[in-house]
Amino acid sequence: MTSFRETRNSWLQTMDSLLTLEPVTHLKAIDLFCGAGGLSLGFRACGFDVSGVDWCADAVETYSSNVGNAECVDLFASPSLKTADLVIAGPPCQPWSRAGKRKGAQDERDGLSVILEAVRFIQPAAVVVENVPDLARKGHREYLDVFENQLTDLDYLVGEHILNAADFGVPQNRRRIFVTGVRGNKILKDPQAWSRPVPVRRAIPGTFWRQVREARPVSQRMSAYIERYERASGCRIPRDLHLDQPSRTLTVRNLSGATGDMVRLRLPDGTRRTLTIREAARLQSFPDWFQFKGSKRSQFEQVGNAVPPLLAMAVAETLREVMEHGSNSMRNQFENGYPIPSSAAISATMRANKRKDTSPERRLRSALHRQGRRFRVDMPLKLPGRRVRPDIVFPRRRVAVFVDGCFWHACPEHGQQPRSNVAYWAPKLQRNQARDKADDDALRHAGWIVVRVWEHDPVDRALTIVNAALERVGNE
Ligand SMILES: C[S@@+](CC[C@H](N)C(=O)[O-])C[C@H]1O[C@@H](n2cnc3c(N)ncnc32)[C@H](O)[C@@H]1O
Repeated sequence: MTSFRETRNSWLQTMDSLLTLEPVTHLKAIDLFCGAGGLSLGFRACGFDVSGVDWCADAVETYSSNVGNAECVDLFASPSLKTADLVIAGPPCQPWSRAGKRKGAQDERDGLSVILEAVRFIQPAAVVVENVPDLARKGHREYLDVFENQLTDLDYLVGEHILNAADFGVPQNRRRIFVTGVRGNKILKDPQAWSRPVPVRRAIPGTFWRQVREARPVSQRMSAYIERYERASGCRIPRDLHLDQPSRTLTVRNLSGATGDMVRLRLPDGTRRTLTIREAARLQSFPDWFQFKGSKRSQFEQVGNAVPPLLAMAVAETLREVMEHGSNSMRNQFENGYPIPSSAAISATMRANKRKDTSPERRLRSALHRQGRRFRVDMPLKLPGRRVRPDIVFPRRRVAVFVDGCFWHACPEHGQQPRSNVAYWAPKLQRNQARDKADDDALRHAGWIVVRVWEHDPVDRALTIVNAALERVGNE
């Protein structure tokens, strides 16, 4: 990556030259909770063919006018199910952030579960989730572990990267965690820091010294309040933007709220003013051609929420390198989420080995239904430290039924031992068995009865086994 020392261009020119809309490659990425598209822009500038999903109409308009196609969808109501090689996501951070109420997984805005659903369905070669570092700290650590374990169960090698945007050419101290999952045999390395701190004055050279029409002057009353607030909160250094350092972290609250903590400039004549949208966008490393849509408040929200594109680009570059040239090169090893089989016969076997909604499952469900049994299909169960998704669930009686495929679950009668690509398949099938056991243990520990039948079991036999379990718990 280009550095300031190498180019001798101004920071603005450097940013403009890095963040261009490169011709796209074959690598398709879907950005969940895409916002204005800061994360996507970094990936787009690295050649990923990005598209986004968000429920905010203004953000979707901004994204579509600058980065690529975006859909306006409530992801909590209907997950997005496009095919993609990569899922990227910056879910709302309020559940984890120090600034929010920090309810974590109990918060209705928990996006990690939405992301996991999408990953299960799309089976991309890689996943990147961006959020505040609080997600990895005490209090939320356990929930992040559950998320990461689930990615591991889905065959991703998981890594955590806490990065400061200031190390990647962004004139702002902004620490963020990137949780990555890559299929194959390589964990993503931390992107290499490439920049010395960029001071605010280099990002907004034309405007930092004067009042401008697009910015709100801070009233004398507010200025007096700010000074009282800073004295009372023991803040020794005034929090006006320091021109010779990177800015402090921009947030929706400190950009658009009239609070004592607001981000503002102190001008040479002693007056203060808020930032313009463009200044805030520059401090986030959005190039000037990137135009935000919606009301001023909405634009500030989009800017404050965004991943700085230069930071996103550093992650995208590292990932692209692994996907294209690493030993787990996606194109070499994967086809629709499965390793490319070494023969047409194995290919046929694998395609026949659907993991969910198989015909034995459907036959058992119909038979149960004919008996008047009522149940839930594929219902996720949140257990302490683990999420389990049995094929058929009787929630009131707490009976969980799995119809195990002979291939994936290594049936002693019909589970074929892979003879080719053994290095991949053997540990994978062993992991499946270990996961089955861990699921069973967690369910039993939480008071569930676990029933496992094989796909080769005749439906009458499967029905008898399930009925026997249901009768054990009676008609509570
Ligand atoms: C932290 S921002 C994402 C910023 C984005 N990654 C970027 O770099 O510009 C979180 C986004 O989640 C969106 N969001 C929150 N709840 C949503 C939901 N239920 N469905 C879809 N989008 C949602 C918000 O509108 C917001 O744009």
